[in-house]
Amino acid sequence: MTDKGTWTPDSWRQFPIKQQPVYQDQELLQDTLKAIQQLPPLVFAGEIESLKKNLAQAAKGGFFLLQGGDCAERFIDCQQMAITKKLKILLQMSVIIAYGAKKPVIRIGRIGGQYAKPRSSDTEVVNGQTLPSYRGDIINSFSPVAADRQPNPNRLLESYFRSALTINYIRALTTGGFADLHHPNHWDLEFVLKSQHREQYEQFIDRIQDAIAFIESIDAKSSTLDRVEFFTSHEGLLLGYESAQTRFVPELGGYYNLGAHMLWIGDRTRDIDGAHVEYFRGIKNPIGIKVGPSSQPEDIISLLDCLNPTNEPGKIVLITRFGHHRVNQHLPKIAEAIKKSTRSVVWSVDPMHGNAIKSKNGIKTRDFNSILTELRDTHTIHNKEGTLLSGVHFELTGENVTECTGGSTGLTEEDLQTNYETYCDPRLNYNQSLEIAFLIAKMLKNTT
Ligand code: PEP
Ligand code: CO
Repeated sequence: MTDKGTWTPDSWRQFPIKQQPVYQDQELLQDTLKAIQQLPPLVFAGEIESLKKNLAQAAKGGFFLLQGGDCAERFIDCQQMAITKKLKILLQMSVIIAYGAKKPVIRIGRIGGQYAKPRSSDTEVVNGQTLPSYRGDIINSFSPVAADRQPNPNRLLESYFRSALTINYIRALTTGGFADLHHPNHWDLEFVLKSQHREQYEQFIDRIQDAIAFIESIDAKSSTLDRVEFFTSHEGLLLGYESAQTRFVPELGGYYNLGAHMLWIGDRTRDIDGAHVEYFRGIKNPIGIKVGPSSQPEDIISLLDCLNPTNEPGKIVLITRFGHHRVNQHLPKIAEAIKKSTRSVVWSVDPMHGNAIKSKNGIKTRDFNSILTELRDTHTIHNKEGTLLSGVHFELTGENVTECTGGSTGLTEEDLQTNYETYCDPRLNYNQSLEIAFLIAKMLKNTT
């Protein structure tokens, strides 16, 4: 690695950059970024440090990480029911996984700022028309009209405000008693009724209910079940926006991105000599790195040297996403190299991004079985390599969308058009998410 020189929140501007929009009105862009810099932070640096402590536990096997939410949050999702349902499914999944893993679960939403999307191509064809690609609501509009696809700096401010409203409502829900909704009495178990393994699931649910009743009987006033910790995250893609949210925190002696607790570097922007890695090396937040099939073990080691030179535990989450066909070929050598290097990381798996396919009628989808296969194979490989899978990362929603096929409710390719809502990648729906949580719990239970 070449010497990168002195870091500042803007030093990334000297490095080659990918996946950025080209704004026509540069003056409006600069004014908007300045306005964001003057507005209050969305999260508190102490919370970020507390997340890092939890992640340090996860690296050693004491905690388990559940990270999930939309592929792309939409401005129209900054709305009571959409936020409530996303929080509800993540809380419910966390109870199920905690029971199986016998560990506390760290909950991180892809929420409150997941508005920018990397795209493989600058253009896309919609209804036969070639248009600039949709890059997320923070950049342009999903509407299939050329003028609406122009990057618009006003959307940066809109993203800041909608993130603030979303995070504010999540804080109210997680501390005001709503967290009780993770209680099994509130689970909607349609998939169990339709599952071939219905009896097994029912026994499992009974046992969780017993465990919760036991906790409640010991301490009726216990607040452990109605207040929960919840963290936010998004891909740190649009660097002007991210550096506008980056502040020096004198009490902690460093720079923090105060727009989210955790940020991750996408698979397309993790070049060691690129602008994204330059930006990320200077912030003290925990950092996720997406690790796809093009990553070589030595690339990941160089990234760890650059992003976590002191080997601080809880700082780095490696989120592998190879696809179910490729995980056996790629993961073992990376796991082995990291283990040999004795660097501390939290191993997580994103079994979504390597498993996208096109349905017969040309709709982008993912199949439940491929997702499950990558998840299980990843777990098996880590067990074999002597490394520890301590986290999972999903694109999911609490709504009854029809975007991924499979699962016990039996969604088929023919069903996809019924309620296909996503602006970007297909997400697991409420039932599929709950079902995968039970399968994760079972997988972890068998190894602890
Ligand atoms: C994502 O998480 O939405 C994403 C684009 O992932 P990746 O960078 O792994 O492709
Ligand atoms: Co996605």
